[in-house]
Amino acid sequence: MNQTDRLLKMLDIELPIIQGPMAGNMKPDLAAAVSNAGGLGMLPCATLSVGQMIVEAGQVRSLTNRSFALSFFCHADPGDTAAQERVWLEKLAPYYKEFGVTQAPPTGAARNPFDEKYCEAVLKLAPKIAHFHFGMPKPALVRRLKDAGIVVISTGTTVEECKRVVEEGAEAVCAQGFEAGGHRGIFLSNDTDIAQQVGTMALVPQVVDAVNVPVMAAGCIADARGVAAAFALGASAAWVGSAYLLTPESKISPMHREALKNARDDSSALTSLFTGRPARGIVNRLMRDMGPMNPQAPTFPNAANPLAPLRAAAEKAGSGDFSPLWTGQAVSLARETSAAELTKELAKGVPKIPAD
Ligand SMILES: Cc1cc2nc3c(=O)[nH]c(=O)nc-3n(C[C@H](O)[C@H](O)[C@H](O)COP(=O)(O)O)c2cc1C
Repeated sequence: MNQTDRLLKMLDIELPIIQGPMAGNMKPDLAAAVSNAGGLGMLPCATLSVGQMIVEAGQVRSLTNRSFALSFFCHADPGDTAAQERVWLEKLAPYYKEFGVTQAPPTGAARNPFDEKYCEAVLKLAPKIAHFHFGMPKPALVRRLKDAGIVVISTGTTVEECKRVVEEGAEAVCAQGFEAGGHRGIFLSNDTDIAQQVGTMALVPQVVDAVNVPVMAAGCIADARGVAAAFALGASAAWVGSAYLLTPESKISPMHREALKNARDDSSALTSLFTGRPARGIVNRLMRDMGPMNPQAPTFPNAANPLAPLRAAAEKAGSGDFSPLWTGQAVSLARETSAAELTKELAKGVPKIPAD
């Protein structure tokens, strides 16, 4: 059996089109729509409490009886970042003044790593697939998921990271290129050395050669040509994020949608300002003023805290200048169409692969 057939069987899907999970930018209906169209819908859980995850996973299940994935972050606890947050808040003070913000920022983590509590709940929810970003969970948790028959997949941004997640139990790996929108799944390399990040075209074939599991290509796939290119590089599936943001099911803010519709190939940059980790988004005023990769941004995920009231006030005033406008470099290729249509359109790029 070739790797694509192996992947389709493993994930129990018809089309090798994977909707990348997009925490804070999508709702269960997007995941369900992609699964119903024959691809893999993924529900991001990093910004959800265990209770919210149970509700949203239930919503996906009520909308589709097909296979879907729950997706989690595996970042390390940042420890006490109060001092970093105070320094960052001082830097933001002029903007607070400009927008008349008097509200104190929230404290605590806005994004949770996968732990025993999430694992317990996932075992009860029994999704077909669990996905991890920023590495893999503790071996005991991986074992519990797999013993329960849940397929475990993960993401890497270098050959070394992709090999590592496979060694730690991932049954398929998403190779995420530099061009991809949202957070880079970096967990081994130096995440501040942005110049060393690998592009999709270089990464995918090198990962295909280095691992013995199916590889899903991510980063700038937004139409059937991109899907065909991913397969030509040896990928077994295309993993698409930003293009799905333009579907009506994505539930992004009107401001984010407008920014995506106006985006060009060179509109985005990697930035650590919004959460503390590098992620790709449309360049806005905060990124221009502070420099997109600022070492003073508090440790992930807590850079989001000092920004939160400012972001809310600016958005209320109609400005996306303090909001993360996540996107990849190819979003301008995407059209505003339904998630089902987009999935079918993307699938036109899948070559007819003969079974071995
Ligand atoms: C708005 C947005 C949010 C994202 N959030 C997540 C996430 O929560 N978990 C994750 O594994 N990947 C996340 N990603 C990355 C995607 O899974 C995927 O790697 C990326 O979108 C692929 O590149 P593309 O945007 O060019 O298609 C996000 C991407 C975007 C655009």
